[in-house]
Amino acid sequence: MNETIKMLLNHTSIRKYQDRTIDRETVDIIIQCAQMAPTSSHYQAYTIIEVRDPSKKEVLFEISGGQQWIKTAPLVLLFCADLHRGSKFYKGVDKEVFSNTECYTVAVVDASLAMQKAFIAAQSMGLGGVVVGGIRNNVEKISKTFKLPDMVAPLYLLCLGYPDDTPELKPRLPIDEICKVDFYDESQQERLIVEYDEVVKKYYTDRTKGKITETWTERCGKMLMDKTRDDVGIFFRKIGLLKK
Ligand SMILES: Cc1cc2nc3c(=O)[nH]c(=O)nc-3n(C[C@H](O)[C@H](O)[C@H](O)COP(=O)(O)O)c2cc1C
Repeated sequence: MNETIKMLLNHTSIRKYQDRTIDRETVDIIIQCAQMAPTSSHYQAYTIIEVRDPSKKEVLFEISGGQQWIKTAPLVLLFCADLHRGSKFYKGVDKEVFSNTECYTVAVVDASLAMQKAFIAAQSMGLGGVVVGGIRNNVEKISKTFKLPDMVAPLYLLCLGYPDDTPELKPRLPIDEICKVDFYDESQQERLIVEYDEVVKKYYTDRTKGKITETWTERCGKMLMDKTRDDVGIFFRKIGLLKK
C-alpha cells in the first residue's frame, strides 16, 4: 500500500490543533492544489476566502453554534460556489442560465472538489482539519460579513492546523451498501444497515464512555431534524441562484 492510500484510508477530522502557525508557502501549496482539482467545463465556479480577521472568525464561531476549532485553527478557508464571476465575464451567455439548478450543481461540485484537494494536500504535509458546514446556520450573515456578491453561495469552512489529537477512525457504511454493480441493488440493504447501526452504536459508546449510544440511523435522523436549514434555499434564491 503506498503512502497516499495509507493517508486516505486513515482520514479523521481533526478539531484540536497545536499552537503552531502554518507558513505561507504551505498555505499557498494548499490553495494551488485546490485550484488544480478537476472543474466542470473548466468553469472554475468557486471562490475560496482565507479568513484572517479574528472578528470574522468570531462571527463564524457564533453562527456555527460555538465550534471552537474555528477560532483555534491557524488556517480557516471559506469555500463558496461562485456563479458571479461567470455571469460577469463569460461571453455570449443568456444571464438567466446562471439561475438554473444545473449551474448551481456545477458550482457546488466544483467548490467541493477544490476543498477536498486542499484537504488532501494539507494532510499530506502533516496538517489535519475539519469541514464546517455549520456556517449555513446563517448564510445571509455570512454573505454580509464577507461582502459576497449575488450569485455567490457560502458552503462551508475548511479549518486546518497541526493535529493535537489522534481520533479513532469513524466506521463507514459497508462497501456493498455504497458501491453496487450495474444496478441499484437493495436486496441486502436492510441487513447491512442493521449491522452498521450496531457498529456505529459501539463506536460512539466507546468513544464517549457511554454518553452517546445512538445508532447511525438514529443519529442521522436527529442531526437532520436539528438543522433543516430551509432558509438556505430561500436566501440562495434571493441572491439569484436555483430559480429554475
Ligand atoms: C460538508 C461537510 C460539513 C461538515 N460540517 C461539520 C460541522 O459543522 N462541524 C463538525 O464538527 N464537523 C463537520 N463535518 C465533519 C463530519 O462530521 C465528519 O467528516 C464525519 O462525521 C466523518 O468523520 P471523519 O471525518 O472524522 O471521518 C462536516 C463534513 C462535511 C463533509
